[in-house]
Amino acid sequence: MKNNVIVNADITKGKINKNIYGHFAEHLGRCIYEGIWVGEDSSIPNTKGIRNDVLAALKNIKVPVLRWPGGCFADEYHWKDGVGPRENRKRMVNTHWGGVVENNHFGTHEFMLLCELLDCEPYICGNVGSGTVQEMSEWVEYMTFEGESPMANWRRENGHDEPWKLKYFGVGNENWGCGGNMRPEYYADLYRRYQTYVRNYGGNKIYKIAGGANVDDYNWTEVLMKNAHWLMDGLSLHYYTIPGDFWLGKGSAIDFPEDEWFITMKKALHMDELITKHSTIMDKYDPDKRIGMIIDEWGTWFDVEPGTNPGFLYQQNTIRDALVAGLHFNIFHNHADRVQMTNIAQTVNVLQAMILTEGEKMILTPTYHVFDMYKVHQDAELLAVDSTFGSYEYNGETLPQVTVSASKNAEGIVHISLCNIDHQNEAVLDLDLRGVIGVDTNVTGTIITSDSMNAHNTFEQPEVVKPATFTGVTVENNKLAIKLPAMSVVTLAVK
Ligand code: AHR
Repeated sequence: MKNNVIVNADITKGKINKNIYGHFAEHLGRCIYEGIWVGEDSSIPNTKGIRNDVLAALKNIKVPVLRWPGGCFADEYHWKDGVGPRENRKRMVNTHWGGVVENNHFGTHEFMLLCELLDCEPYICGNVGSGTVQEMSEWVEYMTFEGESPMANWRRENGHDEPWKLKYFGVGNENWGCGGNMRPEYYADLYRRYQTYVRNYGGNKIYKIAGGANVDDYNWTEVLMKNAHWLMDGLSLHYYTIPGDFWLGKGSAIDFPEDEWFITMKKALHMDELITKHSTIMDKYDPDKRIGMIIDEWGTWFDVEPGTNPGFLYQQNTIRDALVAGLHFNIFHNHADRVQMTNIAQTVNVLQAMILTEGEKMILTPTYHVFDMYKVHQDAELLAVDSTFGSYEYNGETLPQVTVSASKNAEGIVHISLCNIDHQNEAVLDLDLRGVIGVDTNVTGTIITSDSMNAHNTFEQPEVVKPATFTGVTVENNKLAIKLPAMSVVTLAVK
């Protein structure tokens, strides 16, 4: 069956917050250490300890916001261990991730420098699980207070005169699990207490994010909203796409059968239902949608690469991950009224990473390329889309074959992003672009696809999966006729 899509170029539905393209970097495996931080004395070219190749790659995709230091690590992190002369910093055990030594060489100053170099907003996640209210309060004072105070003076002694601008602050992480195994009622009370002391100093206004639900724990959202909605700016949600079972075997990142392709797409599409249902609960207490849904962990989670440390969560990244990324962005765009930020897990060397490194070598993953292709949607106006999709059938189950979203940027250029999630069949589309198509219409496109389900880039062959010019679109009878190959992500630009 054909796929029919109508894009109404003259009906806008609000801005796609650029923070939907946010990232998450945790002290986990080789994400921070080696992936980002190599130290000033490293032979790997770096800027004050941060590797240049990774910096340049991340700058190219316009990272708008970066979440740090965890994750589960956040609720074990004591920020005071990570400031001052590096040689004096406390060495601790990263108990959650592999039991390795954490030397605290990457701390607050290094993270803020990274954000400055990337020109992105820092999003810091505070410690509720094992930290005190005072500790959290003093961290905010250390970072943002301009005048004279014990923490601001200490920051100056440590080499940073001016306070930093800090907008996003998370009050704990996964407090239903690694962040303290709390009940929602208990966490709601703690949230109310801790956030009281997350102060706004001078002109710095903090956007406070409460720790949200795991997957479909709608009761968590209900209890948090009911008891604390007026004290929060954002409420988080975590959902990972796992083809198998979290404990019994998640499935291989590269070596997977056809049915795992299908189930991965099905589970990734589940994000739409989760956003809709959590949003409905939020609407009850916040009908004006003042509070943002902050999906600060999402992405694929597979079994670790054989032979690697199970605590490091290192996995390869194939064209399947590219489809997962593209279809998530289409979902996030289409919920842009409520979804104000998302942070893929994680930036380098962990889970659905943009970048993989091996010593001084670096490669870009298929997921990275989707972030690059979709960056045109950042801060653009979402356009109204009506669609009837063909079916993607497998083993008696059916999914929509295509997902789509469209936006118009400040220059009036319309961008349409399409994913054909079908692993076997081309998708044929009629796309009616109301209010745009004329004699002078110019349509260009970029595609990422492959003939094989598990195509991926390696250090030996870094360009197996990469974007190319899309030639499968023609303008016919004032409509676009599009042919999307199986397993493809396409972004069109209509001028
Ligand atoms: O991203 C890996 C881990 O997944 C995070 O530390 C935690 O918040 C989640 O369970």
